[in-house]
Amino acid sequence: MESASPARGQWGSKLAFILASAGSAIGLGNIWGFPTITSANGGAAFVVVYLLAVALIGAPVMLAEFVIGRRTQRNPVGAFRALAPGTAWVVVGGLGVLAGVMILSFYSVIAGWTLAYIIKAASGEFVAGADTGAIFSSVAGSAPVAIGWHFAFMALTVLVVIGGVKNGIERWTKVLMPGLFAILLLLVVRAVTLSGAGPGLEFYLRPDFSRIDGGVILAAIGQAFFSLSLGMGAMITYGSYMTKDDDLETSAGWVVALDTSVALLAGLVIFPTLFHAGLEPGAGGPGMVFVVLTSLLSTIPPEPWGGTIFGVLFFLLLMVAALTSSISLLEVATAWLVDDKGVSRKKASIGLAALAFVIGIPSALANGAVPWLSSLPGIGMDFLSFLFMIFGQYALVVGALLISVFTGWVWGVKNAADEVRSNDGKFSFEKAWSFLIRFLCPVAIVILLGYLLWQQLGG
Ligand code: PHE
Repeated sequence: MESASPARGQWGSKLAFILASAGSAIGLGNIWGFPTITSANGGAAFVVVYLLAVALIGAPVMLAEFVIGRRTQRNPVGAFRALAPGTAWVVVGGLGVLAGVMILSFYSVIAGWTLAYIIKAASGEFVAGADTGAIFSSVAGSAPVAIGWHFAFMALTVLVVIGGVKNGIERWTKVLMPGLFAILLLLVVRAVTLSGAGPGLEFYLRPDFSRIDGGVILAAIGQAFFSLSLGMGAMITYGSYMTKDDDLETSAGWVVALDTSVALLAGLVIFPTLFHAGLEPGAGGPGMVFVVLTSLLSTIPPEPWGGTIFGVLFFLLLMVAALTSSISLLEVATAWLVDDKGVSRKKASIGLAALAFVIGIPSALANGAVPWLSSLPGIGMDFLSFLFMIFGQYALVVGALLISVFTGWVWGVKNAADEVRSNDGKFSFEKAWSFLIRFLCPVAIVILLGYLLWQQLGG
């Protein structure tokens, strides 16, 4: 395949690529999504299934996406067209573009809450005895506040994406990710030393395998894809900005390891605190993590500075982590319009973000502002959680299934392996990867979806 046209960006260095992909992967999915879903799915047993899903299904799919991206140097739609011209496989790229915009719509709502929380922390609200539920309602439950911050976050996302690959995405990620890691470690220490932390650690770390069923496994696989930014072409797009010197295999390994450690740390922060605060795991929905974090931050001495300083720092870093993910959500559709439709980067990103903003409005109203959106009639879930389930879980699972079938059987593991080897002649896990991408990934997903469908039909 010919090399990228000069108009397309490329990462500045090998480390930059790993950081940018880790930046895409690490975000609200780790710190908000992982604890929320773990809590709703019974705790430690879910964590075990999640880790298996990451290692056996997530990691191989990530390598497949990197390979497709770098080989074709194109956005997901163009990539499938280049590798399988004249076939229906472009639809997989199209699905990715759609999923990206839909996920961005509610992602920006939650990220908007983090923006609001920076201000809440700075104004000294995170002190002992603070009504953490009321703080959450004053943000997420108010239409103008929630929509306003959703707008602000979307605007930030566009500003970075307009900057393009190197100036925008790369610069942000390099500095702030290590900061997030450091503050998470500090919060872990504070959380596990709280009184009553024990039962929280037990819930999180001692598996009760009788809790595992089809729904739990699907949630684990879906969460693995969401957290690793897989199944919608984000990693195809990022891979397309890689140079021929980058090592795909070690890059994928690093991104998976970093992403998973951040999620596991977030759990160590949330669960001890949840039990310390006397809350019920499984209840609380999308607001749970925010409520729990506030109650943790407000225990940090001295009053009121501890909660203020750590609160501002934490939510600032979380917001940046969300930003390095949201730009990848917007980048997929932007790259498609720029590469394939000849739209300028500026027009494409502004137009798509405006669309995602509007689609996101019902999600912004779904945590108290509008009652029926906060508990959809007949579904019992709030609108945001519903969109998350459809696009953040199901669409990614289907997308990843198609990507693994395509790589394993259509384009072929041999072609893919040649691309992995093209920088240094090495592909250490070739046999294992070929097996996983051809057999385990697609078969596991098909069986699971079939089982769930059968369960639905059988009542
Ligand atoms: N992985 C991101 C997170 O954990 C979300 C994301 C999903 C980004 C899919 C891109 C694609 O926050």
